[in-house]
Amino acid sequence: MSFLLPLYPWIKALHVIAVIAWMAGLLYLPRLFVYHCDVPRGSAESERFKVMERRLLKQIINPAMIATWTFGILLVLTPGIINWSAGWWHVKLAMVLLLTGFHGALSRWRRDFLEDRNRRPQRFYRIANEVPTLLVIVIVVMVVVRPF
Ligand code: HEM
Repeated sequence: MSFLLPLYPWIKALHVIAVIAWMAGLLYLPRLFVYHCDVPRGSAESERFKVMERRLLKQIINPAMIATWTFGILLVLTPGIINWSAGWWHVKLAMVLLLTGFHGALSRWRRDFLEDRNRRPQRFYRIANEVPTLLVIVIVVMVVVRPF
């Protein structure tokens, strides 16, 4: 895949841009769920939250996740970029898989709100809101500091 070498800085820039959009959505959607818990089922506000949640997931979070993975995989395929014996890389990959799993959970919770069958308390979404923050701290320390 040596044709990727001259493109490396551009692919990395696009990867980081996609990561920013993905993270923005992963942090904002659980916040919307926190506010959504406060309004009565069937109210106009609840219906407005449903539209905001659908647009955020379909127009920002899903495409940003696909772009992050696509550019990340292109970086992996660039010769000499990944040292498969480095510990930081395996930790990053594990955290990225957890982040992707969190994305899947958000998508299921959105469906619960859409169908007016959310039973989780507001506190649940407040705690869930901290998950992507913790994961991104670990990921950025792994890729930038590379402690092991
Ligand atoms: C989705 C799967 C992902 C894959 C396959 C992937 C893969 C990679 C690879 C191979 C690099 C290049 C490392 C280098 O230049 O030596 C990279 C850079 C980077 N990744 Fe990812 N990544 C993924 C997701 C993420 C996520 C979710 C974040 C943050 C939340 C992230 C943050 C970064 C950052 C900040 C850099 C630049 C590091 C530097 O300055 O060298 N990546 N990624």
